[in-house]
Amino acid sequence: MSSSLSVVILAAGFGTRMKSQTTKVLHRAGGLTLVEHVVRTAMTIAPADRIVAVVGHQAERVSAAVAPYGVRTALQDTPRGTGHALRCAREAAPADGHLVVLYGDVPLLSEATLARLIMQHVSGNTAATVLTAELDNPAAYGRVVRGADGSVEAIVEFKAATEQQRSIREINSGIYCFDAALLWKYIDSITTNNPAGEYYLTDMVEILRANGHRVDGQIMADSSELLGINTKVELAEVDRLFRERKATQLMLDGVTIERPESVAIDLDVQIGADTIVEPQTRILGSTVIGANAVIGTGSVIRNCTLGDGVLVQPYCVIEDTQIGEAAHVGPFARLRMKNRVGAHVHVGNFVELKNTEMGEGAKANHLAYLGDSTIGAKTNIGAGTITCNYDGKRKHPTTIGAGVFVGSNSTLVAPVTLEAGSFIAAGSVITEQVPEGALAIGRGRQTNKEGWVAKKV
Ligand code: UD1
Ligand code: CA
Repeated sequence: MSSSLSVVILAAGFGTRMKSQTTKVLHRAGGLTLVEHVVRTAMTIAPADRIVAVVGHQAERVSAAVAPYGVRTALQDTPRGTGHALRCAREAAPADGHLVVLYGDVPLLSEATLARLIMQHVSGNTAATVLTAELDNPAAYGRVVRGADGSVEAIVEFKAATEQQRSIREINSGIYCFDAALLWKYIDSITTNNPAGEYYLTDMVEILRANGHRVDGQIMADSSELLGINTKVELAEVDRLFRERKATQLMLDGVTIERPESVAIDLDVQIGADTIVEPQTRILGSTVIGANAVIGTGSVIRNCTLGDGVLVQPYCVIEDTQIGEAAHVGPFARLRMKNRVGAHVHVGNFVELKNTEMGEGAKANHLAYLGDSTIGAKTNIGAGTITCNYDGKRKHPTTIGAGVFVGSNSTLVAPVTLEAGSFIAAGSVITEQVPEGALAIGRGRQTNKEGWVAKKV
């Protein structure tokens, strides 16, 4: 769209009704913070360097949340109303073109609605266009007062409205498109002369009119996009909506999702066709899953890359891990912190991997802890194997070559290397390097005392 568009996102308010230590716009829906949703919508109409987020409560954290998008921030150190918040963006925002005002806590506003508002504004030669909605229950929203010619004469806040004005069903969404030059020219005319003693941005309507300019309104098609978030109840509802949209899109793209209402898939997740997502799973963050995979019920997968045909059996927790094609994981496996699991690897029940690489076709089928280790292709890790990677102060690596057989219940005291093709006897405690092809036995010998039991009794 036109390069003369800019956006200011008001995100300085705290949101007392969230009853939270965290400021409202940092709460998440669909895996993204509320303010990120709004930044992403803004980026559909303006380049990042023409977008300003006005931050106030927990300004540093909110700024950090929007920083990756390259948008600007402006500080409103005390919340003194929407008019004051916008004024705080004056230095950072462009002085020319058309300026759109969005709220950081209204994440459902669609690209299409915004585009329609801008279209009308740009073609209408008006000083401002207000996005409005007609509601059966207009509650405490500001009311839109229209003149005989259909233009907007005023926005009256509920508190200040007469009985007659309160009966108006057309409300102010709080989203506007302004002629930027006129906005900045007159914004200082907003006063605190109202019951709340705040700078009301809505006063701009009358100020612009008094200076001979026209203000129009556009009634939005679907007022549910305005659903603002004031409580955790509304947060849950918006989260549900985002996830429902996401699951629907994935299913339309060929992913099988059983009981989609029970799964939580973050918005940035990608999943290939014919992958089956079982009920009660959570697939989060920047996870990418290939085609023909299965994500078993109860599993949580965060920031992972899974190849085609990967089978994740039920109840696995997998984070920051890459898994090659056709590998099998679980049930009940935990993979955390930067694992690289090769193609056709098997990681079975009650196996934990941490910062570990497993070469193609390697297996750890039951009950193992493998940390800070490198395991070669086709190596078999027996049940109960533990890498002792921590000496109480530091972490140490375990290096295991290709084709190694590690017998059950082995203890590998790091740093230690097991060379390719070596064989570790079950129950060994391995503290020294095992040469290629060698058998290592590190345990007490068994002695049998004949007839001992009978003598004892
Ligand atoms: C505002 C409008 C009202 C409209 C309603 C729609 C005014 C005076 N009233 O009312 O007509 O119907 O929105 O939801 O504008 N904010 C700041 N700094 C401040 C105050 C607010 O950044 O000092 C931000 C808030 O974080 C929020 C947004 O601006 O994202 C709206 O503020 P809010 O207090 O919710 O406005 P309302 O009183 O609901
Ligand atoms: Ca509000």
